[in-house]
Amino acid sequence: MPAAPVPDAQAWFDRWVDTYDAERRILLPSFDLFYGTTAEAAALGRSGPVRVLDLGAGTGLLSGTLAAALPEASFVLVDEAPAMLEKAQERLAPLEDRVRTLVADLRDPLPEGGFDVIASALAIHHLADDEKADLYRRASEALRPGGVLLNAEQVAGPTAALDVAYRERWDAHTRALGATDATLAAAAERMSIDRPASVEDQLAMFRAAGLVQVDCLFKHWRFAVLAGWKPPV
Ligand SMILES: C[S@@+](CC[C@H](N)C(=O)[O-])C[C@H]1O[C@@H](n2cnc3c(N)ncnc32)[C@H](O)[C@@H]1O
Repeated sequence: MPAAPVPDAQAWFDRWVDTYDAERRILLPSFDLFYGTTAEAAALGRSGPVRVLDLGAGTGLLSGTLAAALPEASFVLVDEAPAMLEKAQERLAPLEDRVRTLVADLRDPLPEGGFDVIASALAIHHLADDEKADLYRRASEALRPGGVLLNAEQVAGPTAALDVAYRERWDAHTRALGATDATLAAAAERMSIDRPASVEDQLAMFRAAGLVQVDCLFKHWRFAVLAGWKPPV
């Protein structure tokens, strides 16, 4: 039987652009620590006019958090969903010309390098595992020496049994926060094209990409923040 076609991700995420932000704190129960840890790691030993690349930036939630931690930073936001990026432009309007958005696929060549921080939230799990590894390698190349790659991500369990537990805990946590059947049904539809990989597999991909000090800085069931630094020269 032929595989079902993967829906076009551009149309796919733009379908939920009007409800996306409002549901985040319900669908991501560890919201503050998830984005907060990523911002802390981005700003670790770093300040001033640093260059940040946000991969799969969506409505700019992650870039907004990073901008609060790195107030002089400039940002390039990449996403294939133009309506999501329009929301990001609105969110980041106070940064004026320090923000650039780019409609592109994460499999495309990255914007010209020299980034101090390359960060991503909840986007790379849409790629196949070989595409994830390739993206991490290209991101590592696009970092300045000492730069950091951060992936705040939805991850797979290391075993099938734990993966089921991840899913059950997520159901329970989101319902406790007030998720309705309709919200969870829409989320399930949106997540039907997800291809998450485990923490261990992705940390190995970070190391294979030449990153050091590779670590999982935060984890709460299916949500994790992965980090690796490009060695200084
Ligand atoms: C769940 S949203 C996360 C958005 C944002 N990073 C956040 O933290 O809220 C996933 C985003 O990744 C984008 N995306 C998924 N696959 C992509 C791909 N192959 N190339 C570019 N963007 C992609 C989607 O369009 C969507 O905006």
